[in-house]
Amino acid sequence: MNTTIKTITTQYQVFANVKALSAQEQELFTNAKQAATQAYAPYSLFNVGCALLLDNGKIVLGNNQENAAYPSAMCAERVAVFSASALYPTAKVVTVFLSAFSPNYKLIQPITPCGSCRQALAEYEYKQKQKIKVYMTCDNDEIWMTESVFDLLPLAFNSDSLKGK
Ligand code: THU
Repeated sequence: MNTTIKTITTQYQVFANVKALSAQEQELFTNAKQAATQAYAPYSLFNVGCALLLDNGKIVLGNNQENAAYPSAMCAERVAVFSASALYPTAKVVTVFLSAFSPNYKLIQPITPCGSCRQALAEYEYKQKQKIKVYMTCDNDEIWMTESVFDLLPLAFNSDSLKGK
């Protein structure tokens, strides 16, 4: 049998704490944390905040918006990236910063985007032909960062498949 196994590697950077980040990244962290406090998450009690830095210098925020009809809710990342695309359709997303907390427990590992948010973010990275850095934080000091959304979503579906490529 002619079977080939292919291996995909991915990587993320680990920062010991916020002091290891640039002043601009620290500002985004503060914005993401603030956005999390304004989430509407009465059902999960899991507040998520997202701060995007665009190449026009604007910072766009998002947070999770829940609903009594649970599937009608939206994650913080998609609220932020859809809002950025609606407000500044030609701007590129440079950085995504995520923060989350629960009133009930400490988040001991950085929050990583859900699968649907990875796919949504991948769409914009693919469209803009420029990598988007994703920073993930938690209640501990540790921060994770991927240089590209595709490090979080190898073999992502993209628009090439709709063009016969
Ligand atoms: N949530 C986000 O906002 N982003 C993620 O990447 C993971 C999950 C939200 C959805 C829901 O409101 C709550 O967190 C619990 O899943």
